[in-house]
Amino acid sequence: MAASLTPQQVDRLLAAARDAQLRAHAPYSHFRVGAAVLDESGRIHAGCNVENAAYPLGMCAEALAIATMVREGGRSVAGLVVVGEGERLVTPCGGCRQRLREFAADATPVFVADLERVRAQFTLGELLPESFGPENLA
Ligand code: THU
Repeated sequence: MAASLTPQQVDRLLAAARDAQLRAHAPYSHFRVGAAVLDESGRIHAGCNVENAAYPLGMCAEALAIATMVREGGRSVAGLVVVGEGERLVTPCGGCRQRLREFAADATPVFVADLERVRAQFTLGELLPESFGPENLA
């Protein structure tokens, strides 16, 4: 079961993710991604992908959104929207699923969108089942 967000919260996340996507630094892949997370206080934190001429140093949009949340004092992710291009769903990469896992629950909703609309919704538990997380180290 996904913990639900209101349609207004999803719309705000989508707008923030789209806005961030416009700022993507993707001169190598030309694949622009935006992401936005809702924190426990209802604040939104967004990120875009930031590529680097030293290719492995590139950063995903989700990673920057999560890092921005932490920088702003947010402690947990209530929901995430990722916006990408193309026919295929742009679901978070494996590494970003684990980054999200640090701050979210199995039931946390992940919305996958294109420029116009949300195309699919998953829970983090669906995207990263049987995951390793902070509780393992408690
Ligand atoms: N990318 C993201 O920012 N998020 C994803 O969920 C998938 C991939 C970025 C990384 C790289 O800059 C570009 O998309 C192509 O992989």
